[in-house]
Amino acid sequence: MTNSSDEVQRGLQDVIALESHICFIDGKEGRLIYDGYDIRDLAAQSNFEETAYLLWYGRLPTSDQWATLRHHLVELRALPSAMVERIDSMPATATPMDVLRTAVSELALFEPEETRPGPSSIGGAQRLTAILPSILGQFHRRRAGLPPLAARPDLSHAEYLLYALLNRDPSELEARVLDVALILHADHELNASTFAARVTASTLSDLYSAVTSAVGTLKGPLHGGANERVMEMLEEIGTPDRVEEVVKAKLSRHERIMGFGHRVYKVEDPRATILREWSRRIGEAQGDLHYYELLRKVEEVVHREKGLYPNVDLYSGSVYALLGIPPDLFTPVFAASRVAGWTAHVLEEYQDLRLIRPMAKYIGPTDLPYVSIGSRV
Ligand code: SDX
Repeated sequence: MTNSSDEVQRGLQDVIALESHICFIDGKEGRLIYDGYDIRDLAAQSNFEETAYLLWYGRLPTSDQWATLRHHLVELRALPSAMVERIDSMPATATPMDVLRTAVSELALFEPEETRPGPSSIGGAQRLTAILPSILGQFHRRRAGLPPLAARPDLSHAEYLLYALLNRDPSELEARVLDVALILHADHELNASTFAARVTASTLSDLYSAVTSAVGTLKGPLHGGANERVMEMLEEIGTPDRVEEVVKAKLSRHERIMGFGHRVYKVEDPRATILREWSRRIGEAQGDLHYYELLRKVEEVVHREKGLYPNVDLYSGSVYALLGIPPDLFTPVFAASRVAGWTAHVLEEYQDLRLIRPMAKYIGPTDLPYVSIGSRV
């Protein structure tokens, strides 16, 4: 039995599934562009609020539009009291990505207007982007015995995320490095979690269902979960003199070295280039270059042994660790940024909807005779 095309592209590798104006990745040259703007320019000059606006509307905001969005995101941070109760009832030992996936799904129960497919979803996009730091903060503060969240309208999105998780106001450098990390993680074309969101939206399902699909997909260690595992590897290595031994042993066991390789980039991920420099800067400022020095050595060994380049996840964990963010919140921080991209892609899907439904090449048997259960052995 054959389908229309016998050519199976496992993992849909190199398959172009749709047209999009949102993000361009040049895997050969190592370039990343959001709606026409190079990620290096955005990382150097923009902020997360402006980048989210760019992804949602396809253009950079005027100062009034930026101020309106920033004010709106501040207002939308508040958790409904029923959500506070639900989050507080979750086990303190729960995996934060499970908490996030559950909370996003439950939030739809209280916000029917924003969840309907179509133009009203821009409200849902802003709501989910604004509220994810509050969900994470509410959960982490309770499990860590920290005081309850305050609204903090004075804080930007990045500042509020750090305040929500750490219960302190970040320094200017800390706020800047997290803002850059949020810009870098905001979108990345049809990565697995964004594709999951678009598949969900393509059935005309709602925005909250699409983001719930995306959160569950991002959790995997081959995708958003890699940043936490990079840090586990650094803990295992311990000192620079053990890098060669530990990395080579992993490679000899055909293990994947987390933070390396990419389906699209065949050279260095431009986000890794930027995060490497911020990891050095924040490490220098805090007098702790331990992670940075280990990672530089890991890079050297992995490139020599496998010819692989670092991806966005290699240095992000070291930046988050130096900010004081617990490792099991690294992927949730990734989600708190990528929700801007997920929702931008859902909005784009609604504007030019086409059910996403690939095919499989059937390799099982055909025409088997049915045998009644009494006659089966
Ligand atoms: C993200 O898609 C996106 O855009 C994702 C992302 C985004 O912003 O959304 O960029 C974020 O998910 C970054 C990737 C984070 N994951 C990791 O760091 C996990 C480690 N990386 C690998 O698992 C792997 O590189 C993938 C999953 C990222 C890509 O895998 P592919 O394209 O399916 O490639 P592959 O697994 O088929 O590997 C091809 C070859 C193999 O060699 P052989 O077995 O054929 O000899 O390269 C080797 C692999 O063994 N290889 C690695 C490796 N990555 C590839 N070997 C050791 N360590 C690795 N990390």
